[in-house]
Amino acid sequence: MTQGWSKSDWRAKPRIQMPDYPDAAALAAVEAQLAKYPPLVFAGEVRRLKRQLGAAARGEAFLLQGGDCAESFGEFSADNIRDTFRLLLQMAVVLTFGAKVPVVKVGRIAGQFAKPRSAPTEKVGDVELPSYKGDIINGFEFTPEARTPDPARMLQAYTQAAASLNLLRAFSTGGFADIHRVHAWTLGFAEGDKAERYRALTDRISDALAFMEAAGVTGQTAPELSSVEFYTSHEALLLEYEEALCRVDSTTGLPVAGTGHMIWIGDRTRQPDGAHVEFCRGVQNPIGLKCGPSIDTDDLKRLMATLNPENEPGRLTLVARFGAGNAGDHLPRLINTVREEGAEVLWVCDPMHGNTVKSPSGFKTRPFDAVLREVREFFAVHKAEGTIPGGVHFEMTGQDVTECTGGVRAVTDEDLSDRYHTACDPRLNASQSLELAFLVAEELSDRRTALAAQTG
Ligand code: PEP
Ligand code: CO
Repeated sequence: MTQGWSKSDWRAKPRIQMPDYPDAAALAAVEAQLAKYPPLVFAGEVRRLKRQLGAAARGEAFLLQGGDCAESFGEFSADNIRDTFRLLLQMAVVLTFGAKVPVVKVGRIAGQFAKPRSAPTEKVGDVELPSYKGDIINGFEFTPEARTPDPARMLQAYTQAAASLNLLRAFSTGGFADIHRVHAWTLGFAEGDKAERYRALTDRISDALAFMEAAGVTGQTAPELSSVEFYTSHEALLLEYEEALCRVDSTTGLPVAGTGHMIWIGDRTRQPDGAHVEFCRGVQNPIGLKCGPSIDTDDLKRLMATLNPENEPGRLTLVARFGAGNAGDHLPRLINTVREEGAEVLWVCDPMHGNTVKSPSGFKTRPFDAVLREVREFFAVHKAEGTIPGGVHFEMTGQDVTECTGGVRAVTDEDLSDRYHTACDPRLNASQSLELAFLVAEELSDRRTALAAQTG
């Protein structure tokens, strides 16, 4: 696949959404520094995730991918990481109950720092400055100094990613994620209808565990019960950072992106001849491809051929993000294209990015109803087409924020200003995330019934 590919070839291709660093010498020094640092992920883990995503594409597993829209230097803390991780575990428990298949857990974390923006500049009054592009590129503050791209930010992002991943690895295997603690994960969790439902579910899990223990199955005899596998992912937007951390896997001799287990190409940077596709095609990691309403079928064909020429299972994940009411107009034609090409892909639903609106109070928000509706539509189209809805991709946080409107604890337009903390797009809070997980679980148990009927 990577024959004739080198990690710097993207430099000869058209690049968009990337910063122009004013100080070339400073950039080169940072790249040289990063090139000496250890990769954040190991090639064996990347291959393992790929196998698991291949299983999800066949309906034998289900992908849960979620986290911040943009990680920030300011919000970085152990508590925030713990809360996001715990919420993903809670959602995974709910989904496992609905799907009755393993849930593959992938965070938008430990590297999700660079953002594509709809406009290159932002104007406030008469002042026009470069848009904020994520903490790895420039600062949020509206001053010329903060908004100037600074390569040294890549070093800080690397350090934060390494520390985050270290904590996540400790949480995954050090006892925190032991399923016997499923009740403890509810601590600090909001009250309400869904919290009750979650507690009822954890009671059933505890009963099942007590039964298994009596039958001799414990954390010692079945290590799967006492730890989880957790993977990281981010949009591979800042290619200088990606290139500097690209490494050759000593086992296979093939290049691997060392920045995260799974990387994806955004809806704005998926030009088949562009720099981002060129970089991603050469690394062995699982690749996500965001598909919005503007993707045409010829582009999709070329992208599948370029990104997964050997049709390897788990290599390519298509992330549908059309907006509520639009899946019916786009998803069937893309499913058809995939079918015609005989391509192996994992279909995932991102119900966030097609549903961003400006609220009357001026905040960027997402109506929770629209998010739920898009998830339902995604499952309905796959049911009608006889294809497999294999995962979901969310922007969420374990913090009790007010960024998306609606949900059982009804966040209103007026509430948005209370706890609006995102560095970029509005995220689901813990209560909304769990509500969504229950909806997906219901859709998944329908899928299970449908699959059983097909094979029955
Ligand atoms: C994102 O996932 O934060 C994002 C910008 O998505 P998209 O490329 O689908 O708009
Ligand atoms: Co986003």
